[in-house]
Parts: sequence; structure tokens; C-alpha cells
Amino acid sequence: MKDITAVILAAGKGTRMKSALSKVLHPVGCGTVLGEVVNSLERAGISDMIVVVGHQADDIKERFSGKGVRFVTQKELLGSGDALRSALEGAGGLRDRVLVTCGDTPVIKAGTYAALVRANGESGAACSVLTCDMDEPGSYGRIVRGADGKISGIVEEKDADESRKAIKEINVGSYCFNRGRLEKYINDIRMNPKKKEFYLTDIIEIFGRNGEEVVTAGCAPEEAIGVNTRRDLAEVNDIMNRRKLNALMDAGVTILDPGTTRVDRRVEIGADTVILPNTVIENNVTVGAGCRIGPFTRLRPGTTLAENVEVGNFVELCRTSVGKGTLIKHHTYLGDTTVGENVNIGAGTITANYDGRDKHGTVIDDGVFIGVGAVLIAPLRIGTKAKIGAGSVVTRNKDVPAGQTVIGIPARPFQPGAGAKEQK
Ligand code: UD1
Ligand code: CA
Repeated sequence: MKDITAVILAAGKGTRMKSALSKVLHPVGCGTVLGEVVNSLERAGISDMIVVVGHQADDIKERFSGKGVRFVTQKELLGSGDALRSALEGAGGLRDRVLVTCGDTPVIKAGTYAALVRANGESGAACSVLTCDMDEPGSYGRIVRGADGKISGIVEEKDADESRKAIKEINVGSYCFNRGRLEKYINDIRMNPKKKEFYLTDIIEIFGRNGEEVVTAGCAPEEAIGVNTRRDLAEVNDIMNRRKLNALMDAGVTILDPGTTRVDRRVEIGADTVILPNTVIENNVTVGAGCRIGPFTRLRPGTTLAENVEVGNFVELCRTSVGKGTLIKHHTYLGDTTVGENVNIGAGTITANYDGRDKHGTVIDDGVFIGVGAVLIAPLRIGTKAKIGAGSVVTRNKDVPAGQTVIGIPARPFQPGAGAKEQK
């Protein structure tokens, strides 16, 4: 991919999102719409990337500075053809082939980009166009093919007559161009009289007129989804989640209800772990083998579970590591906590890790037993095999030595029979 420069068109207004936030900065998967596009191109082995910005340019630049992309500003939003022209004119050192894609199509796979590049290289064509068949082609551009079956043009839905509207093959919005031939013909694109925009899609017909070859490459219909509306955004999130869940299931994880389970991409889960419904596992979480998670569990970033851990309903763990065989089964919050092996965390246990100004850590050593409804105020260490009575509040820095039992508010060492003596 050394000869490829990717140009990502992301200057558009995204009006249909009805949002104050730039369309390409909306969250999907474990990042943003644009971030996923950049990611996929990177995974395809493309390192030189130009993002064309316009609407809310500063927000996008700020978010992506230092992420290895260059920016070009499209001065006036005059359509996708004008956006690409801005990149060709505004950025220096473009490589011999230019892969163009939209900043709002985040589900295109790396392998699909690679195939698009190959299609162009193998045939020596001026351009390869990514297409797919859609049952309901909606507002996508339609691929028009000649009698020889070769692509002869792309017609936008708005400009299509009934027969063309019926075409199921659509333009995904990604192309790989030979740069010389792109530069030769891009200025031949005329302004679309209806939309007063320069359509990049018109270049296909221009190539044809000039005897230049255009070829197509295919992809799955789900990859083509462009995020134009909030409904598209939800669909894209579903697709990405489903891809992750499928990969986990293929690796031996049981997911009982994929429809209510969300797992971000940067999550690792060991084989034979069972995920029950309504579980959310965020980025940078590692779960060992043979665990049981859920229903209704939330594992937040920085959390690590060893093998055979059980985390049950209404449990939230944040920046917390849990040792082998530990049980945290009901209504618990643990933040910034290190839990040892074979610990029992009673229902409703909370580590109070935030004092209003700073966050503090809690350490719960191996074999500790914590009764229901305990509050552990950090910083704090509970020593090996210590026991915390139900409803106790263990106050900050009052570390509990190994083997000791504490009870009460604030928690104090429990002396069997002490209560009985006092009563006499
Ligand atoms: C475009 C294609 C359509 C294709 C669809 C795939 C054109 C004319 N049509 O339609 O054939 O099926 O994508 O998703 O290209 N942009 C700019 N500057 C502009 C206008 C747009 O950078 O002045 C960017 C947008 O930010 C967006 C991309 O170009 O990322 C496509 O523009 P959009 O308005 O979303 O085009 P569609 O109507 O979806
Ligand atoms: Ca679009």
C-alpha cells in the first residue's frame, strides 16, 4: 500500500443528524464515526491519509491531531467532487494512487479496501468503484452498467428516473483512482443543476467518454451503510457490536443474548466464559476463562478478571482487578480496587473511591469475606482472610489486618462475647 494516499471526505454538514456535534464525531464502536474509517484504512496498510474538512473543521482537527492524518480544508461545501479537488490541490505529495472514501461509512472492512485497491491495480484501470446490491437502495447512488456489463456511470437517486431507481446495485462511496488520470479529468465535472454541487460520481461517466477503463469491486451490503441519520448510527453500532460478539463466540465464549449484550472492540474474553443478558463490557477490559458475567453487569475500562470469577446482576466494576474464583454476585460497585483470589463480596458492597477531590485505591486480599451492604472507604487494605460484618463502614486508612473480623459503623474489631458482657 506504499503507493496509496487515502482521502477521506468529511467536510459535509450532516444536516440529517440534527446535531450540534459534527456527524463524523458521533460515537460508534469504541471510537467515532471518522475514527473507525481511519482505523479500517490503517488496518488495510494505508498510512498516508488526508481528511477533507469544512463544517466544524476545528472540532475534527482537534480530535484527530496527532492521529497520523493530514487535513485539507474545503473552502465552500460544493459537493464530493469539489471536496476531492480541494485535497488534490491543497495537499502536496500525493502518491500514485488515490483511494477516496467517505468519512461517514465506518463499517467498511480493511479487507474490502484492500480488494478495492487490488481491483484497480490488476486491471490498470483509471478507477475502481466499490459497489454492492441492496434490497432497498434508498438514497444511495445507483450503478449504471452498459450492454457489455461494464459500469458506465453513477446516478444519484435524486436524478434517477423510475427505471434507474429500481437498480439494486449501489455506490458505496469508495473509489481507488490512478492519480494522473484523476487529475486529468476531475475538472471536467460540471455543477449538478439541481443540487448546485459537483458530484464526484459524475467522473465515472467522464472516464467512459474518454475511453478510460473503470472497474468495480464488491462488498457486503452492511458495509455500505453511511451514517446520515441517528437511525443509521444505531444500525452501525449494532453491526460493529455484532461483529465483536461473533468473534468472541468463534473463540469459545458463550453469549446467551447477543441482542442485549454490548462489548467494545478492545475487550478480551477467555474461552468458556458465559455472558448473560444485558451486559455491557467497555474498552480495555480483560476477562479470563470460565467466568460468568451478568445479567445486568457493567465492566468499565481498566478492569481485569482472572479465571472462574463470577460477577452478577447490577454490579459495576471500574479500574478494578479481580483474582481467580472470586464472587461478586449482586448490587456492587468497586472502583480502583484490587481484589485477590477466592474473595466473597457480599451483596451491595461499595468501595468509596472518590472523596470529592481525588480517587483512592482499595486492596482486598485473598480469601476475604465481605458481608452484605459493607462500605469500604478508600484508601484501605483488607488483609488476607479478614471478615467484614454486614452493614459495616470501614473508614479510610483503617486497614484491617489479616484474619481479623471487623463490624459496625465505624468498623471495629469484633470480640466474641463483648456485647453480652456490656449488658450485664
Ligand atoms: C454519496 C454519493 C452516493 C453514495 C453515498 C454513499 C455523491 C454525489 N454521492 O451520497 O452516490 O451512494 O455517498 O454513502 O458523492 N462531503 C464533503 N464536502 C461536500 C459534500 C460532501 O466533504 O461538499 C463529504 C461528506 O462529509 C460525506 C461524503 O462527502 O462524508 C459524502 O457526502 P454526503 O452528502 O453524505 O453524500 P451522500 O448523499 O451520502
Ligand atoms: Ca452520506
